[in-house]
Amino acid sequence: MSSPITNPLRVGLRQERVIPPQCLVIFGASGDLTHRKLVPSLFELYKQRRLPSEFALLGCARRPWSDHDFRQKMAASLSDKIKESPIEWDEFCKGLFYEPVNITHREDLIKLGQRLEEIDRLRATHSNRTFYLSISPEFYGIACRSLAEANLLKDPKRSRVVIEKPFGRDYRSAQALNKLVQNYCQESQVFRIDHYLGKETVQNILVLRFANTIFEPIWNRNYISSIQITAAETVGVEERAGYYESSGALRDMVQNHLTQMLSITAMEPPGHFDPEAIRNEKAKVLQAARIADEIEPWKCCIRGQYGRGGNKEEPLLGYREESGVSPSSTTETYVAIKLFIDNWRWQGVPFYIRTGKRLPKRVSEVVLTFREAPVHLFDAAGGSPTSNQLILRIQPDEGAVFRFDVKSPGSGMRSRPVEMDFSYEQSFGEPSDEGYVRLLADAMLGDPTLFTRSDEVEAAWRLYTPLLELIEDKPWQLPIHQYESRTWGPAAADVLLARDELLWRRP
Ligand code: BG6
Repeated sequence: MSSPITNPLRVGLRQERVIPPQCLVIFGASGDLTHRKLVPSLFELYKQRRLPSEFALLGCARRPWSDHDFRQKMAASLSDKIKESPIEWDEFCKGLFYEPVNITHREDLIKLGQRLEEIDRLRATHSNRTFYLSISPEFYGIACRSLAEANLLKDPKRSRVVIEKPFGRDYRSAQALNKLVQNYCQESQVFRIDHYLGKETVQNILVLRFANTIFEPIWNRNYISSIQITAAETVGVEERAGYYESSGALRDMVQNHLTQMLSITAMEPPGHFDPEAIRNEKAKVLQAARIADEIEPWKCCIRGQYGRGGNKEEPLLGYREESGVSPSSTTETYVAIKLFIDNWRWQGVPFYIRTGKRLPKRVSEVVLTFREAPVHLFDAAGGSPTSNQLILRIQPDEGAVFRFDVKSPGSGMRSRPVEMDFSYEQSFGEPSDEGYVRLLADAMLGDPTLFTRSDEVEAAWRLYTPLLELIEDKPWQLPIHQYESRTWGPAAADVLLARDELLWRRP
C-alpha cells in the first residue's frame, strides 16, 4: 500500500510562524473596530508572546490626538483586560503611537512617512509595515493611492494593505475597486479580511475534510441530500443603523461570511496546502454556484425584517423603530436563499443559507444531511425515519455533532437517533482565539491563505447579482416579510424548504 504524499510546500497554515519586526498602521484608529477588536487582539497576541519585541502600532485618524491620548483611550476601553494583566499592558502600551492623518492630504502622508521612519529607528521595525484600512469603504481606493504616492507601498515584501469589508456593494463596484486597488498594489500585498475565516471552527472544516479519509468519499451528491448554513444572531441593528440601512443582511452577512462557509464546505481538495491552491479551489466553487432558479430568482430568496418582540421585562423594538432607521425602511435583517453548485460533486444538491438578526439564539453552523437508507428495515421510534446529519458548530460551543440511528433499547427492533458530540472546549480545555487574533497575525506574517482574493470577492458578488438587481429594480418581487423579534424568521422561509419537503434545523 502506498504511503500518503507529503508535500514539500508546507507553508501557510501548517507552520508555527514568527511575526517579523513590524509596524501595524491603523487608519480609522478613532473608530469602533480599533478599540473593540483590533487593539484587544494585538494585546492578546502580545500576551501570548507572538508579537516580536520590535513591534509598534501607529494609530492614524483625523482627530488631533497625541500618543498619550491614544494610549489613554485604548486603556479606557480595555480596562477589564488590563486589570487581569497590568504589567503586560504597561509594556505593550510603550509600542502604541498616534499620528493625525487625513488620508486625502498629501502633506499628512509625507508626515506619516517621516513618522514611520522615526518609529523604525525607535522600535527597530525594519520598514515592515501593515496598513490596516478600518475606514469608510469609499476611501479604500484613495487610501491605496495616497500610500503609493507617498512611496509607502513600493516594496511588496515589506508593505501590505489590509482591507475591511464591505469590499464593494455589488459585482460591478467590487470589480472597479479591485482595479483601483491593483493600480497601486500588487495582489500579493492586498489582504481582504473576512473575520469568519479567522474562526478556528471554519478552518476546522478544512482539517475535518482533508485530514480524515472517512468524509471525502461521501462528501458529495451521492451521499448528501442537502446542506444548510445558518448564521443566527440575537442582537438587533444596535448603533449601526447608518451603515446597515444601506447594506442589509444580504450584503452584511451573506455575500461574505456565509459565502465563505459555503465555499470551504463545498470546495474540492487542493493539490497542496498553499495559499493559492486553497484560494483557487474556493474561487472555482463560487464560480460554479448559482441561485437555484435563475429564471425566477424570487422563488429562491426570502427577505425578512424584525418587528417588535421580547417580553414585559425586556420589550424589544421593531427594526423600523430603531434609532437611525427609516420608519418605512425596506432593508432586510433576515435572508434565506436556495443555491445550487453546478459541478460533478454537487449537481442537484440544494444549499440553503440563512442569516438573521433578533433570532432566538446566537448560533452559526453548517448542517450536512445525508440521504436516507434505500430500504427502511426498522420502525423509527419517532414515527418517521431520520437521516444521518453532520453538524459543524461554528459558534458558540464550537465543535461537531454526528447524528445516526441506533437500536432503541428493549424488545423489538426500532431505530432511534443519537448524537456523537465533539466539543472544542472539552477536548482542548480552552476557548479558541477571536478571529481577529489569527487574521492580524497572518496579515503581519504575509500569509494570505485566510484572506479573500480578488476573484473570490467578485465571484461572491456575481452569485447574488440576480437578487441584488431584483431588490434594486423590482423590489415587489422580493418583498419584506415581518417577523417577531426572537422568533426564527418569517414563515415564508419555512415555506421555501417545505416546497422541497424539508425543515430548517432548529439549533
Ligand atoms: C459583521 C456584521 O461582519 O459580523 C455584523 O457586520 C454581525 O452585522 C457580525 O453582527 C457577526 O459576527 P460574529 O462573529 O458575531 O458572528
